[in-house]
Amino acid sequence: MQDPMSGPPMLSHYEVQTLTRAYRQGRGQVQVTPDLGRTQVTVALDEAGVRFPGGARLAWDQAQEILAHPNAVFAWAGGSTWERVRAFSDLTGRVVSLYPTGRAPTMLLSGIPMHRVRNTDPWRDTQAKVRALHPRGRVLDTCFGLGYSALQAARTADWVLSVELDPAVLALARRNPWSAPAFAHPRVRVVQADVARLVAGLPADFFSAVLHDPPQFALAGELYGAAFYAQLYRVLKPGGRLFHYVGSQETKMGRNLTRSVMERLRAAGFAKVKPVPQAFGVLARKPR
Ligand SMILES: C[S@@+](CC[C@H](N)C(=O)[O-])C[C@H]1O[C@@H](n2cnc3c(N)ncnc32)[C@H](O)[C@@H]1O
Repeated sequence: MQDPMSGPPMLSHYEVQTLTRAYRQGRGQVQVTPDLGRTQVTVALDEAGVRFPGGARLAWDQAQEILAHPNAVFAWAGGSTWERVRAFSDLTGRVVSLYPTGRAPTMLLSGIPMHRVRNTDPWRDTQAKVRALHPRGRVLDTCFGLGYSALQAARTADWVLSVELDPAVLALARRNPWSAPAFAHPRVRVVQADVARLVAGLPADFFSAVLHDPPQFALAGELYGAAFYAQLYRVLKPGGRLFHYVGSQETKMGRNLTRSVMERLRAAGFAKVKPVPQAFGVLARKPR
């Protein structure tokens, strides 16, 4: 497939391995993805480096630099300059960056990945969460992140309201080829806000489903609290469903967190509260 690239080409060590291998094999051109696996282009290889359609160039010493940073994604910034795709958040004081997986990247928040990457990839990790929820009607996606949950929920939902606290995360997502479609999706509305505050101003009995995919407890404890769960309960319609990502239930800490989340959800009024280990979360329903 030879789709035109939107945005500057992006590379990680995965693609650079393809490029250096092809050059070592004496090839003058090779197919590579310029957008982290969404499309393929043919690039030219010579002793100076790699030439992309559209003018981007990668010198071989820059290729070595990318290989030396396997946790980073680099974007072309003109000439033979490639810069890491990352941002500093003035709001949280944390660095956010794209982390390559060979497919859809995840985001590192202070070095912590925001999706599962072991034995899966961020897109498939999100599919497990969204499948567990079966989103229909109006959906609240509490934590936009890279927008994978918003985009996947929008396949079956009428409308998705997705909330992200951090402007730096939104800026990073706009640069990520896998996230960018969320900003133009006719059934996805992205809002920059603290969901704990925003939800208090939303109407009662409004959403058919809530997808709650917060950062780890240590980074966002209030999103695991009774007051927030009471608000999620309030904005759900009777019969509405909540999927709450919690994390691995295989460790003692994970099981304890899951148990305490389930107790607080029941205390907030939720029924049919049950763990969904394959999606690393908990499903709950507002009684009719
Ligand atoms: C695990 S990630 C969400 C991943 C997302 N569901 C996806 O598909 O890419 C959690 C996100 O919640 C955001 N966040 C943290 N606290 C928040 C809050 N109070 N309100 C809204 N978003 C918040 C973080 O900045 C981070 O981007």
